[in-house]
Amino acid sequence: MRIASSFQRAMASSIAGCKLHMRGKGSLATCLQKIESYLHRRVGTGVVFAQARALQNDETDKATLRKSLFAVQVERQEQAKRSVLFNLKSRINEKTFLKHLLQHGNVNKYFFYESYGIYAVVEFADRKSVASLLEEAAVPDMSTKPIMPFKSRLLLLKNLSAANVSMRLSNQQLQPQTSVHIKELVQRLSGLENIDQQMTSLTEAYELTEASIRLRFLTCSLVQDVAAAFFPECTIQPFGSTVNGFGKLGCDLDMILDLDNISGREKNMLKPGLFLEYNMKSATSERTVTQQILSVITECVDQFMPGCIGVQKILNARCPLLRFSHQPSGFQCDLTVSNRVAIKSTELLYLYSGLDPRVRLLVFTVRCWARTHGITSSIPGAWITNFALTLMVLFFLQRRKPAIIPTLDHLKDLAGPSDHSVIDGNDCTFVTDFSKIQLQSNTETIEHLLRDFFDFYSSFAFCKMSVNIRKGAEQNKHDSSPLYIQNPFETKLNVSKNVNVAQMDRFVALCQESSQMIQQNGFNTPKGGRHGGQEPQPWGVAALLLPSKVVGVTSRKKRRREVTNERIKSLLESLKPKEDEPQSTTNSDASPSPSDTIK
Ligand code: GTP
Ligand code: MG
Repeated sequence: MRIASSFQRAMASSIAGCKLHMRGKGSLATCLQKIESYLHRRVGTGVVFAQARALQNDETDKATLRKSLFAVQVERQEQAKRSVLFNLKSRINEKTFLKHLLQHGNVNKYFFYESYGIYAVVEFADRKSVASLLEEAAVPDMSTKPIMPFKSRLLLLKNLSAANVSMRLSNQQLQPQTSVHIKELVQRLSGLENIDQQMTSLTEAYELTEASIRLRFLTCSLVQDVAAAFFPECTIQPFGSTVNGFGKLGCDLDMILDLDNISGREKNMLKPGLFLEYNMKSATSERTVTQQILSVITECVDQFMPGCIGVQKILNARCPLLRFSHQPSGFQCDLTVSNRVAIKSTELLYLYSGLDPRVRLLVFTVRCWARTHGITSSIPGAWITNFALTLMVLFFLQRRKPAIIPTLDHLKDLAGPSDHSVIDGNDCTFVTDFSKIQLQSNTETIEHLLRDFFDFYSSFAFCKMSVNIRKGAEQNKHDSSPLYIQNPFETKLNVSKNVNVAQMDRFVALCQESSQMIQQNGFNTPKGGRHGGQEPQPWGVAALLLPSKVVGVTSRKKRRREVTNERIKSLLESLKPKEDEPQSTTNSDASPSPSDTIK
């Protein structure tokens, strides 16, 4: 990983990294200079220069975009295993904190964030340091109140020699975990010079940061520690927007419990002679197995895992799942089991997101536009999901002349033997090596694409045609659903089956409105602010995000009220005594994280 290796290369300059992070915090920076000397420690007979580097606010690991998703996942999971999450209960300065950590070994990266308190994520260079740190941790006093004796890598850090006041850090020291408010975004975009800049700035404001990605993998790793009590070989890996390149700060954390190592799917042919086999209970169906596993893990997460609240098992859904809020990270988490098709669609979106920079710019802008106008929502219902909307953008980019991204069928043609994949009878084969994909030469500007996107869907024959990224061409619909987007892998299914006529009409009406706005004179000209000194007025993308005049479009305020009501309903639901199979999902074909439930 770029960050880790840059670290290794920059051993001697690690303190400089700290100083850089402290820019503008004079006294602390001076202190850091003074502590340079005690950041040396002895291990065995050799002298090792202890090091710790803060993650910079704007640090991202863009290089990972060209690696295969599998390679990224492996690296990130390894990084997460060397990481610890601290809840900083008392006021403690960064220097003292680091000094303490460095007693256990070198620290690759650390950062702070806020979520119901101040937290720190610390990545050690070696897993042994984590073990050493955990040895130091005490068990809370059980004489005053009983506690669940479950130890995890979420630690409370108290400063017994200081008053028990929460740690305070400046905004620069805290890594953001949520995206900017829409009003602030509109203001920011209004001050820019062209549409290109606006779409880039919007994407940068919304995309997942390096810190958020690290925290997401660490959260998976903490859940994995719980599941490993039963299934030591299991892994828990994120899928969906956390890793597909289209994740927005604050999006949910979709996780998969991967038991493939246990099921021995990849086992070689057996040799003749003596043969040992585990004696295992049989079950009525794979679905029952999944339900039982999730049921047990739900109990453990609910009873033992600190910071997990609102734990719900949703076992009747087409794809059974466990849902909970992880308070220390602030993530809404969905856990499913061995959902291999979902991993494949994540891999596919990841590939598309890395093929051409215009893909992410357009997807982020369209997703933001859709959310602002209530086309998509975080609550379940007949709305278009982000996944479906992303497929619509990809389809549009395949329809350009020349095409900006290839069809899925073309990606399948480029696949090598190691890409071969058939899941439950569905062919999920496509190339995963970026270097094998030759793109056509299309030089359209992102501004042009944005305009044509709205135009394209303003007049798309939704009543009889379907969106199909496998073919990159409209196909006749298989049924009368208002919106038909073929599932890329389970090709008999429609990923937007939940969308009703009213929502579809609103989508088309908003596309038409935005398309007309874009065609008006002066749409792409900045309005005021630069010379006159007045506040710049919304123009370009910022203007597209202003409340719409389209009839039937819910106002932002009303929308927020609806969302809040739904959240309260969900919370009350989660507080009810738990039944085994409390809810079923209704909307999408195979949504592993069903879009018809609260996120
Ligand atoms: P956000 O969470 O809204 O940011 O996007 P997301 O892509 O993570 O969507 P979501 O959490 O709803 O689903 C997670 C992943 O599950 C998606 O990225 C897809 O890979 C897959 N998925 C979601 N909805 C469907 C669906 O309707 N059908 C199928 N086959 N897969 C889906
Ligand atoms: Mg998601």
